Amino acid sequence: MARKLREMGILVLILLLTAPLTGIAAGIGEDYVRPAPRKTLSFSWPWNRKHSDGPQQADLAKVDRERTPWLLALLHVPWYNSNWAHQGEGDDMMAVVEPVLYAAGVDILIAGHVHAYERSFLSSAILEQQERVYSGQLDSCGAIHITVGDGGNREGLALRYHHPKPIWSAFREASFGHGELKIVNATHAFWSWHRNDDHESLSSDEVWINSLASAGCLRSEMRDFSKIQIVP
Ligand SMILES: *[C@@H]1O[C@H](CO)[C@@H](O)[C@H](O)[C@H]1NC(C)=O
Repeated sequence: MARKLREMGILVLILLLTAPLTGIAAGIGEDYVRPAPRKTLSFSWPWNRKHSDGPQQADLAKVDRERTPWLLALLHVPWYNSNWAHQGEGDDMMAVVEPVLYAAGVDILIAGHVHAYERSFLSSAILEQQERVYSGQLDSCGAIHITVGDGGNREGLALRYHHPKPIWSAFREASFGHGELKIVNATHAFWSWHRNDDHESLSSDEVWINSLASAGCLRSEMRDFSKIQIVP
């Protein structure tokens, strides 16, 4: 698929976010992230300091979204998590980094850490509406957050969820499984999640995703980096 996308001239930029100073990002410290694969920006964010115009913002502002329609970010600790496990552990990082990624127009954030599956993104074909999330609220130009920490581990599943389900949570389940993200072209991607208990060809959750660029969410006045204050 990578070659096909290359032939189509589509680049997918993946950001790896690390949390070196909080002590909560078990397993995704510097060693884990380096060496970053080619075409991947790896950020180690010193967000306990005033950092209003760091090189990361400059780098993100330079991304040409005509050529790179998809912007994905990988992080260890999820910011949107309604499981009891690891509740709130991503809050400090989220408070500082989420506005930057929103301004940059990051399409999808994928996290692990919680041993269960959950995703945001309420979509309805009938309403032709797709609700992403930003700052805890539904936002059609926010990001899609996916937690797939359910690949398997010796601690077992994180079975307990908060009730009622938060408004941004579209699907959640404590089962082992895996997800697949297919970037089909510049405007469309397909996400599916497969429960291990089912036959492999069965998908337990699936959704078509439009890129933020194609949804008209990247107009420059909405993505003004200069308005973002990185002050924890
Ligand atoms: C991108 O893929 C979607 C889904 O297959 C399709 O509907 C759309 O026409 C494609 N766009 C282009 C420009 O090929």
